[in-house]
Amino acid sequence: MDKLILEPSGPLRGTVEVGGAKNAALPIMAACLLTEEECVIEGVPHVTDVNTMAQILSLLGVEVAWEDGRLAIHPNHYTGWTAPHELVSLMRASICVLGPLLARHGRAKVSMPGGCIIGLRPVDLHLKGLEALGATFTIEHGYIIGRAERLRGATIHLSGPFGSSVLATGNVMMAATLADGVTIIEHAACEPEVADLANGLVEMGAKITGQGTPHIRVEGVLRLHGARHRILPDRIEAGTLMIAAAMLGGEVTVKGAISEHLGGLIDKLREANVAVESLNGSIRVRSDRRVKGVQVTTLPFPGFPTDLQAQMMAMMTMSEGVSVVTEKIYPERFTHVPELRRMGAQITREGPSAIVQGVGRLSGAPVTASDLRASAALVLAGLAADTVTELSGVEHLDRGYEQLETKLTHLGAAIRRERG
Ligand code: EPZ
Repeated sequence: MDKLILEPSGPLRGTVEVGGAKNAALPIMAACLLTEEECVIEGVPHVTDVNTMAQILSLLGVEVAWEDGRLAIHPNHYTGWTAPHELVSLMRASICVLGPLLARHGRAKVSMPGGCIIGLRPVDLHLKGLEALGATFTIEHGYIIGRAERLRGATIHLSGPFGSSVLATGNVMMAATLADGVTIIEHAACEPEVADLANGLVEMGAKITGQGTPHIRVEGVLRLHGARHRILPDRIEAGTLMIAAAMLGGEVTVKGAISEHLGGLIDKLREANVAVESLNGSIRVRSDRRVKGVQVTTLPFPGFPTDLQAQMMAMMTMSEGVSVVTEKIYPERFTHVPELRRMGAQITREGPSAIVQGVGRLSGAPVTASDLRASAALVLAGLAADTVTELSGVEHLDRGYEQLETKLTHLGAAIRRERG
């Protein structure tokens, strides 16, 4: 297993370009199952979660190939309908093949995703939404077995105890594109990745309106065709780089970052005394003093994203004063806390909140990542520490960040990978 060796770094200076969004790419890859024709997706990041989705599509009988930085997906007349446990257990987002398989084949067998390190993560909203369209489900031997004679449009409410669901909205929207009649999704997730999926589907011939709002309307069509789609820039990668600049100091321009997608973060960084400027097609972050403690609550978009909570907490460990982080999407998403504490951070947990008393410095230590965003938080903490930090569990980072270490190195950080 690889390790990252992180040396004391900062200030960061320069310009980096953000890649395509992993969380937009995965459902759009699954959406290709809705057509027989070739789809070309541009800007797909080279990360292991994308490889896992490509493996699932290949197992179903779909041709997947990288061509000059684009992903060419040719479903032809694929006949597979099973997403096996070995792959679904690597990545819960595999669940997004469920809706397309039911819409196209009338049957699907997808391994039931278990709980994961960031919490329970049920799939009831996916099943509820697809059932409303006429699918039926049984759970057998750890698999969700779905069947549907013909899907029919319906009005579906998709809110759960922690708000709407991003991938359940995607699953229902994808299935509804080929259903008879009109589907209305109420309490739809408003995340930019859901809107990007809808835009990709529209390019394939789907009739969708309201994407990006809690009220999505899908008018079913008989068939979808091939299309070419460019994935939107990754707001979580952009946010991670912005927090790095805020925490380590300096001046960094993140090219491709869209300020409308990062409002929750920008607001909190400014409150913490960090200068954030929205330019045409990029965001510039400048920080020349110790940041101030802030209160952050994670919420569905446009609130502060749960996927930036760990990185923000890493920044708070060194801020002036007390910060409070409340996790309203995944109340157990705190695996970074004990590792940050090993580096000298003063954090106490109170239910879904963490209280962070800022310290003047973090001390380098061997630490282990156990979740994608926790790994990014530990990279930032390691660069801010006073001595070398050795980060294990880098495979989590590789699931969702394309070349984070190269980009940070380009800005002046000292990171090296030891291949294991
Ligand atoms: C997506 O997961 C993202 N993954 C996650 O990113 C992200 O953290 C999450 O949305 C929230 O923004 C991808 O897009 C591939 P949800 P998703 O269903 O769709 C509960 C990362 O680090 N819920 O919107 O699976 C759920 O437990 C990852 O890149 C139900 O109750 O998340 C949670 O509390 C991790 N029933 C809340 O809803 C359901 O059927 C939101 O989860 C589904 C979800």
